[in-house]
Amino acid sequence: MTSFWSAWISVIILGSIFGCWWLLFATRKSQTTDSETENTMGHAFDGIEEYDNPLPKWWFYMFISTIVFALGYLAAYPGLGSYKGFLGWTSHNQWEREVESAEAKFGPLFKELAAKPITELAKDEKALKIGQRLFANNCAVCHGSSAKGAIGFPNLTDNDWLYGGTPEKIKETILGGRNGGMPAKGLNPAMSNSELNDVVNYVLSFSGRAEDQEAAKRGGEMFATACAACHGADAKGNQDIGAPNLTDNTWLYGGTPSRIKQTIEYGRAGVMPSHQALLGEEKVHILASYVYSLSHK
Ligand code: HEC
Ligand code: HEC
Repeated sequence: MTSFWSAWISVIILGSIFGCWWLLFATRKSQTTDSETENTMGHAFDGIEEYDNPLPKWWFYMFISTIVFALGYLAAYPGLGSYKGFLGWTSHNQWEREVESAEAKFGPLFKELAAKPITELAKDEKALKIGQRLFANNCAVCHGSSAKGAIGFPNLTDNDWLYGGTPEKIKETILGGRNGGMPAKGLNPAMSNSELNDVVNYVLSFSGRAEDQEAAKRGGEMFATACAACHGADAKGNQDIGAPNLTDNTWLYGGTPSRIKQTIEYGRAGVMPSHQALLGEEKVHILASYVYSLSHK
């Protein structure tokens, strides 16, 4: 912030406070009495008149004390432009203190839990409670509070995995994040519209929904060259690169013919962010056991 804007803000704030002060005393000057009387202002609206009474004392002193409080507050805390306040408070150092006290309180517990294997933690009530809370705070925005996912965000409660559902793979996913990369039209960017329809029919044929058997057959040939490298010759997917199984009835991006066509025509690139820096290894370990428990009741 430049010193001009800092001064600008300070002048507006202090000006408003002293303006209130001035107003309070200026109106007091015209006051004729210090106590309540029956005198009126001399005007009437529809027969309603107004008493000419001073502000009650307690009210007047309340105004004074809010002004004094405001000035004290602005001296102690940041508020006047770039002036930092004599207490040196910042939201950042308050946050750091809170994190520190949370670390001191929960650190030993996290350490103890993180030393146990994920399969064991997945049966530990206490670990699951912590995991559930971590999930609600860090993961539910994308995967849903029940972890059932949404279009583009995988369901974590079923047994269908893009990257693998072993404890190690789940932990690896959360720690390092994942980038799904499905190129538009697979390895054949020159695919024509009718070839695209053939491939869509082929993919639909796995769930018995091909509209045109001949087209599905032609699509199968195209699939072998443009898609099989990632999804496998049998279309059952490849967990090393997160290529989904296309033969089951679980769809990441929706299984209607139009959604499947959209996926193949334009490609997809789902991003699971890395949580290593944000949460640290111990919390991720506990989270992984929670996620693992969802599909291993
Ligand atoms: C910004 C949204 C977002 C957040 C936050 C997020 N995820 Fe994900 N997650 C995704 C997406 C998108 C994918 C699928 C990536 C892909 O398409 O390749 C994914 C994939 C996963 C997978 C792999 C699923 C599989 O089938 O292999 C796991 C496990 C997972 N997330 C767990 C978590 C956990 C635990 C958290 C909280 C620490 C979390 N995610 C937070 C978006 C998110
Ligand atoms: C370079 C590897 C690669 C190639 C080639 C490829 N895919 Fe994919 N495909 C993926 C990945 C990875 C995903 C998951 C994308 C994500 O998670 O965001 C995916 C997702 C899909 C989906 C969505 C599945 C769902 O559950 O919603 C369909 C359908 C699909 N691919 C069909 C095809 C077809 C048909 C071809 C050939 C024309 C093809 N793919 C070529 C890697 C590939």
